[in-house]
Amino acid sequence: MDSSKIREEFLKFFSAKGGSASGGEGHKIVPSSSLLPSDPSVLFTTAGMQQFKPYFLGEKSPYGNNVASCQKCFRTSDIEEVGDERHLTFFEMLGNFSFGGYGKEEAIKLAKEFLNSINIKIDYVTVFAGDNDVPKDEESAEIWEGLGFSEKKGTLKFCGREDNFWGPTGEEGPCGPTTEIYSQACLPDRQGIEIWNIVFNQHYRHKDKSLTKLETFGVDTGMGLERLAMVSQGKSNIFETDLFESLKSIGATYGNLKAERIVADHIKAAVFLISEGILPSNVERGYILRRILRRAIRYGNVLGLAKHGLIGLAGKVVEIYQDVYPELKLSEADILTVIQKEEEKFEKTLDEGLKQFSKGLDAFELYTTYGFPIELTLELAKEKGIKIDVEEFNKKFKEHQEISRAGAEKKFKGGLADTGEKTVKYHTANHLLLAALRQILGPEIYQKGSNITAERLRFDFNYSERLNEEQIKKIENLVNQKIKEDIAVEMLEMPKGEALKIAKVSFDPAKYGEVVKVYKIGDFSIELCGGPHIQRTGELGHFKITKEESSGAGIRRLRAILE
Ligand code: SER
Repeated sequence: MDSSKIREEFLKFFSAKGGSASGGEGHKIVPSSSLLPSDPSVLFTTAGMQQFKPYFLGEKSPYGNNVASCQKCFRTSDIEEVGDERHLTFFEMLGNFSFGGYGKEEAIKLAKEFLNSINIKIDYVTVFAGDNDVPKDEESAEIWEGLGFSEKKGTLKFCGREDNFWGPTGEEGPCGPTTEIYSQACLPDRQGIEIWNIVFNQHYRHKDKSLTKLETFGVDTGMGLERLAMVSQGKSNIFETDLFESLKSIGATYGNLKAERIVADHIKAAVFLISEGILPSNVERGYILRRILRRAIRYGNVLGLAKHGLIGLAGKVVEIYQDVYPELKLSEADILTVIQKEEEKFEKTLDEGLKQFSKGLDAFELYTTYGFPIELTLELAKEKGIKIDVEEFNKKFKEHQEISRAGAEKKFKGGLADTGEKTVKYHTANHLLLAALRQILGPEIYQKGSNITAERLRFDFNYSERLNEEQIKKIENLVNQKIKEDIAVEMLEMPKGEALKIAKVSFDPAKYGEVVKVYKIGDFSIELCGGPHIQRTGELGHFKITKEESSGAGIRRLRAILE
């Protein structure tokens, strides 16, 4: 079955079925959320359950109790494994979820029925063996036994916390024992591959790692589309499936399978990340993107990939996915430009860097002068049997970061150094604009950059399409309405933890101090911010957007004036 058919069948199955224990309403199909989660404690979306996290914790789900989705995911935890038969950084996860709707029996039976319906045989299953904190999952074992699985036949196995316990994403959240489904159809030596992970969210794990019982019993399942496609298509690895077929390195002069797979995986991940507005940089998400892009370039080099070969592959990624994720086609030109620029930047230094590296240049110099991510240097070192002093690198890196952070703060203050009345007004207008964008374009909007002078404000944010006249009018009108309402601008000081609960932040929370200022404009806007701001919105006059343009892949830029 080709992968689009699998996606379709999965969603069709769950939309029609399920929830007999809760009225049989079936599952509501929810679109994939962004790869950039709103939870500031995690950088990327790594599982289908992430967008539903609050509903496992008792918040009412607007979609009902049972939902299903096909979620874009990105994980770097397995990056070292990419190159084998089954690991990826970017993948799609099919999942059905229930927030107090149904229990273990229905979850397990639905999984089995779905796999039957697409002719996939379950070879064995695993169940949580229990430990000091959480008891053995006897209930799941009995359900599987009722379906013909048993320890005696070797089709039911018990495993510990390492294998059969999942969660939470981020520092705290729902988690619980799992039961996992394996197929032995494809891999060499009939070694099993996990195709479906069914998590029973029974616990909440706190920051100090202690567990408390959750009030609502939750089901969170995740099945990697690529692995399912591999089993369904009878392939011996995920790179042979239709999701990768066309991503074989163009112009490769010799077959280095690992390098070819790394290039295919990383270019795919890069395309998706760039489509969400991330640009290569030296911090946070941008750094991760840079790391995988540069790794792809380096392995492309090993393969003898033709010049700009990566761009050709990126175009293929868009082709494979455009029907499911139309945002790729919309930002294709931007995606290709970003990749080309990074390729040009890095190619220039790759040769020189490699040369210097073989002459013994230290890892930190390679990073600052040649843009070699430390992970790449470590990899090169390992290949060549050279030892790198990681501690020394980290020490220098920390010092370097402190210096650049101080520099950035100075710059930021400098940007607002002229605290003349005008710039203060624009600063408050900036907050109104962000809140208006979130209300009109969607809650996923974040500030990507801003620049204020006494004459105008310039504001960058993540959005993949050009704004039309109507949207611009709506945004202007909403800001002007808030100005007319003459709302008081309040400043509150509070611990960062509290502030992050009430405000969405556009920057890495680590960048803020432990006690932060929060600026609140009625119920309309709430932001962590150093200030200063005006007293009441009525002082702003009339707000007008003067220009709308692109500012890189997936980033739009607005200029606005106060008249
Ligand atoms: N959250 C679990 C996982 O990522 C199941 O969806 O495997």
